[in-house]
Amino acid sequence: MKVSVTTLSIAELDVELLLIPVSESHIEAARLNLAEAFGDVIQRAAPDFDGKAEEQVVLYPEKSRAKRIALLGLGPWESVDNETLRSAASAGATLAYKLKVETAACMLPAGALDVDTATQALVEGFVLGSYRFATYKTDEKDKRPGPMRLVLHAQDQEKACRAGAERGRVIAESVISARDLVNTSPNEQTATLLGKAIERSAKKHGYEADVWDKALIEEEKMGGILAVNLGSVEPPTFSMLTWKPENSVNDKPIVLVGKGVVYDTGGLSLKPTKGSMDYMKSDMGGAAAVIGAMEAIARLALPLHVIGMVPATDNRPGVNAYVPGDVIRMHSGKTVEVLNTDAEGRMLLADALSYAQTYKPALVFDLATLTGGAVVALGRTAAAVMTNETEGAAERIEAIEAAGRESGDLVHRLPMFAAYGDQLKSNVADIKNVGGREASSITAGKFLEHFVDYPWIHVDIAGPAFLHEPKPYRPYGGTGFGVRLLVEFLRNYASPRKKK
Ligand code: BES
Ligand code: ZN
Ligand code: ZN
Repeated sequence: MKVSVTTLSIAELDVELLLIPVSESHIEAARLNLAEAFGDVIQRAAPDFDGKAEEQVVLYPEKSRAKRIALLGLGPWESVDNETLRSAASAGATLAYKLKVETAACMLPAGALDVDTATQALVEGFVLGSYRFATYKTDEKDKRPGPMRLVLHAQDQEKACRAGAERGRVIAESVISARDLVNTSPNEQTATLLGKAIERSAKKHGYEADVWDKALIEEEKMGGILAVNLGSVEPPTFSMLTWKPENSVNDKPIVLVGKGVVYDTGGLSLKPTKGSMDYMKSDMGGAAAVIGAMEAIARLALPLHVIGMVPATDNRPGVNAYVPGDVIRMHSGKTVEVLNTDAEGRMLLADALSYAQTYKPALVFDLATLTGGAVVALGRTAAAVMTNETEGAAERIEAIEAAGRESGDLVHRLPMFAAYGDQLKSNVADIKNVGGREASSITAGKFLEHFVDYPWIHVDIAGPAFLHEPKPYRPYGGTGFGVRLLVEFLRNYASPRKKK
């Protein structure tokens, strides 16, 4: 989508639809100001609109160059934050789609706010709310594109508005890349094809990509990835994504690992179809988030050395599939007793996490649609986040939760008490790959902890990565969850911003 900024007065804006977010607390002043530009249609709409959250009214002013204006209610000003703005802009995008509008403009709400981040939020909400995945639709009416252009109305802070608009567009487009990857049909997304998608993304957005084939994965003795891959006729891949600008402020890299299970049947521990296997094309949601984040990091030219890793395979019950009872020697040298082949994500991630040790990283993230337990605990609203209890653990958890609140990709912490690790004791190997039904998200985190020797943040995105019911600016399907979380965290890591 094209996004631009204008300093014209609102009465002069020649657009099909002008979106005007208004808070309940500023309604009187807004009516007066808007009446100046648009005439008494504003006063006549007063009985139908007082700025309550989610309220919406479309007006056709006579005295204006804008064909229509839409007032979007924000609720009381005290509760207005960037998420409110994203949701309001997304409602504006839905309206633009319904009205078949190509160009919409959006005003910044009256009230004291940080223009840069508020503009970013409005653009994110509008662009993400315009998203439709229509690749496989054949009917022209289903393929109809949404709005093509958004014009932001900068009152007096043009520079901040431009910066926020550009950042919002880049971030939203990176989220859309992640959504498209998740929504792609699994028969078109083998591990090899995911590797090709990574190469295309790297070329287009200016970072480096190196996609390892099965022979290289064997050479590195990545036993976990190879075990999961045994039941598949498709070879695995391991992709390394690199962004290393000359001005990077970190000596040791930050590593982002994404679970790339391109399809999870459960393997021989086969999943039931309904409500379970039927959506497992989303099991590469972590990989998609890492790819989307790398795109954004490169396009925003963050002054950070960041390495992405995407271990990828499908998990299938082919004739040679790994079986419950198998003991696997992992990349790290540790042995794992497999008691459920459906706990495959941790097998892949463990190899990537231990490989990451070779970089002596400052911090490693992994993002993974790892456990059904995370969906039970936090639903589709937030991801579960865990960290190893090494130096700085409390600050790390605070920082990632804060990035969640700022970005709208909410995360909530789970504890990592040592006692949970007992659930992984094996009679035959160093550990087993399942810890039972209780606290299953935590025991999955505890499993991964065996393979890290650096500061580490684990984000279980099984809930929010894929929606069956739409939420504001997140339609049905892949959400691209994690891209905005990572970008917000890393921007802050590169240059800490003051808390508001
Ligand atoms: N990919 C699933 C987790 C999942 C569940 C993602 C629901 C998205 C929505 C994962 O590989 C899995 O099957 N986990 C099992 C592990 C268990 C066998 C220890 C789970 O959580 O049930
Ligand atoms: Zn599984
Ligand atoms: Zn899985």
